Amino acid sequence: MPIYKYDDKSLQKAAELIKKGELVAFPTETVYGLGADGLNPIAVAKIFEKKNRPSFNPLILHISDKSALKNYVFYEEPVIDKLIDKFWPGPLTLVLPKNEIVPDIVTSGNDTVAIRMPGNEIALKLIELSGCPIAAPSANKFGHLSPTDAEHVEKSLGSDLFILDGGECAVGLESTIIGYRDGIFSILRPGGIPIEEIEKITGVLKKRDKNETSPESPGQLPFHYSPEIPLYIIDKSIMSNNNFLNSLKNRKAGLLLFKESNPEIESILPSYSKKILSETGNMAEAAANLFKFLHDFEKEKVDLILTEPVEPSGLGLAIMDRLKRAAERYKI
Ligand code: TXA
Ligand code: MG
Repeated sequence: MPIYKYDDKSLQKAAELIKKGELVAFPTETVYGLGADGLNPIAVAKIFEKKNRPSFNPLILHISDKSALKNYVFYEEPVIDKLIDKFWPGPLTLVLPKNEIVPDIVTSGNDTVAIRMPGNEIALKLIELSGCPIAAPSANKFGHLSPTDAEHVEKSLGSDLFILDGGECAVGLESTIIGYRDGIFSILRPGGIPIEEIEKITGVLKKRDKNETSPESPGQLPFHYSPEIPLYIIDKSIMSNNNFLNSLKNRKAGLLLFKESNPEIESILPSYSKKILSETGNMAEAAANLFKFLHDFEKEKVDLILTEPVEPSGLGLAIMDRLKRAAERYKI
């Protein structure tokens, strides 16, 4: 059995494995992480191997104490302390100039490192007991959906991994990633904390230039978040494409709606399974359900997924970011 319900014993065992340089999947408030001792390059290498992750994609270091940040990075900017006071523990990752203690394999040779203090008691206890920062990407094979429960991890990474089961992730979307360099704060990935909240402290964030060919945050590759099933965002071009609409006749669709039924699309689908992200229109609930519902559609073996767009502000920005990336390779 690779899945161990969280209790004192399983926590102890997980920390022992981390100390020995082995991998452990563990819960955070955002998604499950695939963790290793972040100061042990050989342990970290196992993460890349397990995920089939290209080595150019750097990892996040997870710490259990705000004051540990200074052990790994340099900064003087007081606004960074304000961000930490406001949002840690929580789904905010900071990318800051690293010091020599941080192994190159964690940062893929970059001179910066991504760090966060997760808002999940089990994650914090595991880091503390392990006595090291834990390097962890999301606990899924490269290019697949992020896991929001222990079963998702097992499905993607298999049964020879120790998975510490802390139930479902409360936020359900990865952390917001903010970079700081030469006096400028920039948004590297929208996520669990709305950009608007962060801008109250940092002022207007630099957005990534759409034409940039080499993304500053390599996880921003277009195909990064892909369900195994073709996914389409419902828009005018889809609704007026007769070939596409005809092709739906023999296929079972997974229909992902935001708040309420959508009679226009439901009337043209011969066979579909419907899921509503939040019946009250609550963005946090919608975000928490997003990956979970996409995983459920995979389990139900629908032939394709159709999703409604949401307003791209607040958490809606991160939701649309993930949906657009998931839809990218299936453009019609
Ligand atoms: O919520 C989260 O952030 C989850 C949980 C487990 O903490 N982790 C997560 O990790 O989403 P991952 O590896 O799937 O995504 C980390 C992102 C990648 O897009 C990576 O390129 C970016 O962080 N990143 C890491 N280090 C960086 C650096 N030094 N400079 C720029 N981007 C960096
Ligand atoms: Mg990931």
